[in-house]
Amino acid sequence: MAATSNERPSAATGNERASAATNDIRVRSPKFDFTGVPRRWLLGSRIASSVANGANLLFPAGERFFVRSVRRYLDRLDPVADAQLLSDVRAFSQQEGRHAAAHERAFEVLRAQGYDIDTFLRAYEAVAFGAIEKVVPHKLSLAATAACEHFTAILAEAGLTDGVMDHAHPVMRELLLWHAVEEIEHRSVAFDVLAKVDPSYALRIAGLAMASSMLGSFWVMGALYLLAQDGDPAGLLREMRIGREKKKRQAEAARAGTLDATKEAILPQKSIMTRVFGRGIRDYVRRDFHPAERDLRPVVERAMRTVRALDAAAHQSGRPSHPANAI
Ligand SMILES: [Fe+2]
Ligand SMILES: [Fe+2]
Repeated sequence: MAATSNERPSAATGNERASAATNDIRVRSPKFDFTGVPRRWLLGSRIASSVANGANLLFPAGERFFVRSVRRYLDRLDPVADAQLLSDVRAFSQQEGRHAAAHERAFEVLRAQGYDIDTFLRAYEAVAFGAIEKVVPHKLSLAATAACEHFTAILAEAGLTDGVMDHAHPVMRELLLWHAVEEIEHRSVAFDVLAKVDPSYALRIAGLAMASSMLGSFWVMGALYLLAQDGDPAGLLREMRIGREKKKRQAEAARAGTLDATKEAILPQKSIMTRVFGRGIRDYVRRDFHPAERDLRPVVERAMRTVRALDAAAHQSGRPSHPANAI
């Protein structure tokens, strides 16, 4: 396991708040056995599972784009003055490479479940990386990567704190908790490289516009593409109605102080897409924003305890998800 520390003031931004809130970037090498993951692996819900699967479809090619966009500027970093950032870029690249590979293995489950994912993947990769990436300036690709990393860190924080993952199939839960932990660990790497290459606020905001429009549209299209293959529109409408009624009842129970997370899954009142893009954009447009301004180390530590417990349970059940010494 490689580990590198990025507990330092952000020289790129001068934002002193970043120094206290960053995590070590640890490269872990998990292996997962996805055999037996059901179609409705999250909350027993086709909608929740498809929204999560829709995001998962974007990860492998997206993460390789992030790494390309950052590594293109390695020669702009000073080997001495930026030694820590260079080390962080190496660890970030290794983490993203492992995420991409793990999610590609999870694709086999979707194929085995009968989903056609390859038509979507071909179109997504042709448009995003075969066309758009080829025509946008490299600096804009880096700025879009910095913004995407901010969105993935918010998605990760939501996944580690809103309790929904408690109701996921154990192997998918472990995959997503591990990925979320590492997204939080490396959340400022691309942002700090961008600040070194070009600290322009206009470029940062252009990257935000590109990231939010592309990530949002491909995520929605991926989720809808999967949902459409499930058929049964009446069942889908019924699930949506039941979900709305459950959220309304839970909001009333929360106000009355009678909501009990030990008795039922608590549904967040706002969708994950609303939370990621709503808060993500609000944060990112602040001129003094830095991705590591909030201390998420307790969240990461708690999640890693859960990952280790899931891994131990998998070993006990004879279904090792990955070598114990890898985490
Ligand atoms: Fe990742
Ligand atoms: Fe990332």
